[in-house]
Amino acid sequence: MRFLRTRRMRHPNHQNTPETPSLTDYTDDRGNSIRCGDNVMVTGKLSITFKGSGNTVTIRSNAHFDRLIIDFEGDGNTVDIDHSVPGSLHRLRMRLGHGSSITIGPNCSQQAEVYLTASEGNSITMGSDVMCASRVEIRGTDTHAIYSLDDRTRLNPSADIVIGDHVWLAMEVVLLPGAIIGSNSVIGLRSVVTGEIPDSVVAVGVPAKVVKRNIDWERPVTFGFKP
Ligand SMILES: CC(C)(COP(=O)(O)OP(=O)(O)OC[C@H]1O[C@@H](n2cnc3c(N)ncnc32)[C@H](O)[C@@H]1OP(=O)(O)O)[C@@H](O)C(=O)NCCC(=O)NCCS
Repeated sequence: MRFLRTRRMRHPNHQNTPETPSLTDYTDDRGNSIRCGDNVMVTGKLSITFKGSGNTVTIRSNAHFDRLIIDFEGDGNTVDIDHSVPGSLHRLRMRLGHGSSITIGPNCSQQAEVYLTASEGNSITMGSDVMCASRVEIRGTDTHAIYSLDDRTRLNPSADIVIGDHVWLAMEVVLLPGAIIGSNSVIGLRSVVTGEIPDSVVAVGVPAKVVKRNIDWERPVTFGFKP
């Protein structure tokens, strides 16, 4: 079952878009639901697909999206998205299996093609003020299982991913199952995080390793800085 756009309104930040579709509350007979706060808007593609039952989407007030695609492949998943950075838009594609959750905290932003996937009862939790550059992938599951030929045990279980507050994920960063990123940290371009990264560091590479400690970063772009 697919959620359909039902109401239209203008988005203040997109003057060239004549009308902006808006999410509204929704429920179906299989216990899937969408609950929206006030002033939730989507300027681009909107698609929420429920293949199973008992899935819940909560979009909090003042969450603004350029694109929102959520595919619920199974049952009992939850998605909770807080308001975006004022003046920016969430650009998100998500896919969930069974019994999993994805939580995006307040004041986060995502550039183009940001993808999150969770399954097998695992969660992805993003704190507040997290900045994702383009083509970031947050993968709590490998999507396909690998087994040992010795005893058929699963070698690549899905796992939770936790991203702290005020984290910057640079372009094309990938987080794999079990990634934990401490608050205030920066993950460098094309890095792959497979384990735990502490607070207030720069980590880079495949797999990502800490190269700088005791750092801070800020969101405003440097184009306004004079040399
Ligand atoms: C994370 C980042 C900002 C760090 O920059 P920095 O603090 O100036 O880091 P440095 O250039 O001093 O690099 C420190 C070390 O890490 C290495 N390094 C830096 N970025 C790396 C990367 N993405 N992958 C692998 N190694 C990297 C450097 O070679 C250097 O290694 P060395 O000490 O052995 O010489 C930068 O690496 C980055 O990713 N920039 C792209 C940001 C981006 O995607 N912006 C898009 C808009 S959000």
